[in-house]
Amino acid sequence: MSRCLVVVGLQWGDEGKGKVTDLLAARADVVARYQGGANAGHTVVVSGQKVVLHQVPSGALTPTVRCIIGPAVVLDPETLLDEMSSLAAAGQDLHPGRLAISRAANLVLPYHKALDRLRESAAGADRIGTTGRGIGPAYEDMVGRRGVRAADLCDADRLRARLATVLPERNALIRHLGGNAWSHDDLMDLLLPVGRTLGPYLADTGAVLSEALRRGQRVLFESAQGTLLDVLHGTYPYVTSSLTTAMAAFPLSGIATPKDTLVLGILKAYTTRVGGGPFPTEDSGDFGVHLRTRGAEFGATTGRPRRCGALDLPALRFATRVNGVTHLALMKLDVLGGLDRIPVCTAYRDGARTLDTVHPDQFSDPVLVPVVEEVPGWSEDLRGARSEADLPQPARAYLRLIEEGLGVPVSLVSLGSDRADTVLRADPWL
Ligand code: IMP
Repeated sequence: MSRCLVVVGLQWGDEGKGKVTDLLAARADVVARYQGGANAGHTVVVSGQKVVLHQVPSGALTPTVRCIIGPAVVLDPETLLDEMSSLAAAGQDLHPGRLAISRAANLVLPYHKALDRLRESAAGADRIGTTGRGIGPAYEDMVGRRGVRAADLCDADRLRARLATVLPERNALIRHLGGNAWSHDDLMDLLLPVGRTLGPYLADTGAVLSEALRRGQRVLFESAQGTLLDVLHGTYPYVTSSLTTAMAAFPLSGIATPKDTLVLGILKAYTTRVGGGPFPTEDSGDFGVHLRTRGAEFGATTGRPRRCGALDLPALRFATRVNGVTHLALMKLDVLGGLDRIPVCTAYRDGARTLDTVHPDQFSDPVLVPVVEEVPGWSEDLRGARSEADLPQPARAYLRLIEEGLGVPVSLVSLGSDRADTVLRADPWL
């Protein structure tokens, strides 16, 4: 039986990875975040209490789980410390025995956030619609070898020297974009206390993960954002700046690819997107309004209204293939209740050709037209259903349409935000 499971988003993020990770954390020993940063907003609801996690893995709410923040996560120290104190106030103390942070993780510093916002304002209509959390500029610094890393926080001389090397060029760019330069001393004052607090948490997280797997522990890798936002495989340039796919989990975490990895692909029963970029099945009519209202489709990180539209099976076939998905989790099926007919995109037409699968690059092709079919809806409220037999026939048919359309079994169906509003058809970890 496999000990390693990756939870990955198959759309443009916000699929419900936080809820699924939290649910499966009960069966995990370790939960590791491997990319992204505080742009993520993983919402977990426990006994009616909503918690939004941006930086800490969603295993944080399960006391027996060890949480890992890997080297390819960009770390916003301010958000992390805030989150750790809110969790401590809620009775979840993330002491160093429960949370390990990679020494190599690159920091998101105040000047990254300033650059992110200044760039977006300068881009006008071409802006990406980022979360403004400094993610792109922090990753640029990582690959540009200008990063300040977590380990630098623990040595005042090293931190001072590092900032002296990297800050002048960043400040020149900030001034060029019309912003105010950051002072070296102010940054030192801000970061040294952070280093004192985070020092005990820093570790070689690749070694921690390898050892956990060697001892036969169950490790869950929690991705952030979604496949269509991947910097290589998504709707470039309207993407985030990291690798969001499942198989990136291992090189990004610094471990060899474990045998028989399970990949749980998370999808919403419809499609949403925040920010700019193509979205062929977007619906600005009544269907889109129904989804936004009933699904409370507003960003967990920015509060922005999400763009909403029909399920896109060809894009999901691409995401299923790229990630090597072995199981699916279908989220927010309840939101489709109250509709007579539900539109679903089953293929695309490209001139005379019909395409069953599309690469996200093709979305900006003006001749690409979605083929939308309507399937029967249902009026019942699905919350409260605890088994598949409790679902009305059209909801079961919708589930089958997805399984047959993607060729992968649906293991879990979510019908509300609470842990309890879930139908577990087959535990991917049994
Ligand atoms: P960034 O990651 O803040 O640079 O934003 C780049 C794009 O990714 C924008 O379209 C954001 O709306 C989107 N994005 C980033 N993180 C998330 C997320 O967690 N959920 C949904 N969209 C996201």
